[in-house]
Amino acid sequence: MAPEWLAVPGDPNSLNAKVWPALLERDSSGALMLDGVSLPDLAQSYGTPLYLFAEREVRSAASEILTAFTDAAAKHNTSARVYYASKAFSSIAVLRWVAEAGLGVDVSSRGELEVALRAGTDPAMIGYHGNNKSFAELDYALSVGVGSIIIDSFDEIARLGMLSEKRRESEPNFRQDVLIRVNSGVHAETHDYLATAHEDQKFGFPLSRALEVAAAVRDYPGLRLLGMHCHIGSQIFGVAGFAESARRVLQVQSELLKLQDAPLLNLGGGFGIAYTDADSPALIRDLANEIVATVAAECEGLGIPIPALAFEPGRAVVGRAGITLYRVGTTKNVELDGGFSRRYVSVDGGMSDNARTALYGAQYTARLANRSSDAVPVLSRVVGMHCESGDIVVDADYLPADAQAGDLIAVAATGAYAFSLSSNYNCTPRPAVVAVNDGQARVIVRAETLDDLLARDAEATPIAEGEQ
Ligand code: LLP
Repeated sequence: MAPEWLAVPGDPNSLNAKVWPALLERDSSGALMLDGVSLPDLAQSYGTPLYLFAEREVRSAASEILTAFTDAAAKHNTSARVYYASKAFSSIAVLRWVAEAGLGVDVSSRGELEVALRAGTDPAMIGYHGNNKSFAELDYALSVGVGSIIIDSFDEIARLGMLSEKRRESEPNFRQDVLIRVNSGVHAETHDYLATAHEDQKFGFPLSRALEVAAAVRDYPGLRLLGMHCHIGSQIFGVAGFAESARRVLQVQSELLKLQDAPLLNLGGGFGIAYTDADSPALIRDLANEIVATVAAECEGLGIPIPALAFEPGRAVVGRAGITLYRVGTTKNVELDGGFSRRYVSVDGGMSDNARTALYGAQYTARLANRSSDAVPVLSRVVGMHCESGDIVVDADYLPADAQAGDLIAVAATGAYAFSLSSNYNCTPRPAVVAVNDGQARVIVRAETLDDLLARDAEATPIAEGEQ
């Protein structure tokens, strides 16, 4: 019944460094400690489910990624900027950590822009994305001085053009830097919903129309076209898709250069991480070197200067530094056809705090967090508390046979797209996010309360103290 990729672990207490935070270890009693803080203590203090971040690992991942791209670019006498794609996890503390590491921020909604600004992000370091930015949203972005706007449609060019003209009435030299989002036609090997550069989807302009789009942008003196942007998808393990996409976009960029300056190429994000032992994403340093070398070789062939480069990793910055802690409430063995049975371990969260398993069939890794165990490893399915059979947290992993009600379960690599895709399904308050750093823990996003849930209900009266 086990999926093909899943091996029986020699030790179901082990922590594969590829999947888990490097700062996670078991103490002498077998309980997990994250950067010097005991997970059972955290569960006691803050309750479960609980999102946890190893702050130092977010910071080091951010600076390692920045260094990987800037070093790779420097080898070819160009520069690289890295924008953290805040859709992966957006909170003030996390955006401060990445800004302190030297990254800019990619936002793709008014809300993400708000969080970035409140975190104190330099607006010049913000790239603003989205396939349907409203007039009001664009107006606001211009008013706060967002560094670049990534244009996604002809409607948007007209809106931005008009807004920039208006601004030039009071500020004659005003110019908004923009990039054109193109669709390179490369379909990265990933879950179909996550691939964004094949033809039949909503983002960007087809490459074949890029010059026409550039001409439309040039019609507005208040817009300055910096170059092109292309993002091919997410959770991509290899370099081939990025390299092919870069080659295709550069061919068009070389045509554009005959008409105007186009100093920048943004190749988006999408760098994958390991969720299970079976995942083998390329190292970011190797990816950076190969992507930049491909760009340099292509530019040489085309006889054009190498553009300044930009990248937008989200998952690779925060994914592995985050884990989710749950408490087991019930266990059962469900008898199946053929004499098999499957062990179900129900925890106190589920698809409301991590929708990725239900949405994408994502696979995760689970371990007992409050103790280690000598019991034999049993194929288990960790499920949530929601009223839906697809409410699966970890589809398949081996847990010790004696995992039982009251135990804590940690799920690895939930730092990206768990909190940000979370919901209030079944009127479930969202968990807190706690950051640990060198033996200290602090709440960076508090848990929702039942009053929070009802805060928008026009008929609600506050819940009495003690009934939360
Ligand atoms: N840049 C652009 C324009 C994007 O659309 C995205 C992700 C990124 C950068 C960052 O991609 P990353 O480095 O995080 O892979 N909810 C899905 C992922 C959706 C990604 C959407 N765009 C998931 O949970 O896997």
